[in-house]
Amino acid sequence: MKLINHYLLLLPLIIFNSCNAQKKEKNVVSLKDSYKKEFYIGTALDVNQIEEKNAKEDSLIKKQFNAITAENIMKSMFVHPSKDKYDFAMSDKFIAYGEKNNMFIHGHTLIWHSQLAPWMAEIKDVAEMKAFMKNHITTIVSKYKGKIDSWDVVNEALNEDGTLRKSVFLNTLGEQYLVDAFKLAAAADPKADLYYNDYNNEEPAKRKGNIDLIKKIKEGGGKIDGVGIQAHWRLESPSIETIEESILAYSALGLKVAFTELDITVLPNPWDLKGADVNQNFEGSAKMNPYPDKLPDSVQVKLAERYASIFKLFLKHQDKISRVTFWGVHDGQSWLNDWPIKGRTNYPLLFDKNLKPKKAYQNVMKLKDTKE
Ligand code: XIL
Repeated sequence: MKLINHYLLLLPLIIFNSCNAQKKEKNVVSLKDSYKKEFYIGTALDVNQIEEKNAKEDSLIKKQFNAITAENIMKSMFVHPSKDKYDFAMSDKFIAYGEKNNMFIHGHTLIWHSQLAPWMAEIKDVAEMKAFMKNHITTIVSKYKGKIDSWDVVNEALNEDGTLRKSVFLNTLGEQYLVDAFKLAAAADPKADLYYNDYNNEEPAKRKGNIDLIKKIKEGGGKIDGVGIQAHWRLESPSIETIEESILAYSALGLKVAFTELDITVLPNPWDLKGADVNQNFEGSAKMNPYPDKLPDSVQVKLAERYASIFKLFLKHQDKISRVTFWGVHDGQSWLNDWPIKGRTNYPLLFDKNLKPKKAYQNVMKLKDTKE
């Protein structure tokens, strides 16, 4: 009898513990599983990751992400290095990786002024540019028809004030190139979702330019399904309100909204540097790379809070968001270690360079725990 009483006393504790165990079990799930009802959770893959060079990294990718973008290898300088030569060796491997792992595959990117094959930058003639666009877009999109689920058809066509960037495409064809690009992509794969992708297009002036651009494409008879907001963001900006206004404005046009290259820099912005005194250089670069060994806890917490508020907003507008893709798998591999200043140590993602989940990861996961 005494023993039973004892047991009864302990019962609440036993129930509490088992709930806790269940909760812990829940914490073991991944980003992609936690967010599977809301939107895809993607990552950008570099060559080593596509080739599965590092087993630990590979199992992290497969566990956490259900969408992939090629960080570089599908850009024009790699797939179309000279006028009569395409090189699909790496992109074939990228597609095979996605198919094998049942992932959503995003194509990045068809028409972009950067990482352009040098011969493309030389095109001066309207007829030659038209022929290039037709050949380039039709060849690549048809090759992966039914395999690539969505495309960045045009990347970064806008200036910060919302006007059109004076790229080789605009200079030869005028703004009609935008309509043509979307028409050609739709003709080559009518079922793929077609996106316009840019950075800072959540900011009001550029957003307005982006909205005009989308309208132009539609009025010209092009098919456009979504807008990609790159989301290379900072701890303090853009504000949640600005991001929210953009989600609402773009989806009001009937478009899907994707966050396509999410990362958050924690390092100082070099453009705050004034003057060009060579003696300032050393001091300047040490100041510009404040956390070469470890991210201080206070900044780790700030980053985690920033990610929490961003994902809270994403959850609020889950019906309008198709995909959230991080620009890289872990901090050690991020392009932000070398841009805009080479050789710094940045901490912009959810996994550290040892592939350990950071506080920011826990925060993003916790949002789903409390929702259920
Ligand atoms: C970056 C890659 O991450 C780097 O490895 C490369 O050196 C330069 O390009 N906007 C884009 C991406 O659309 O393709 C860029 O990726 C980052 C900015």
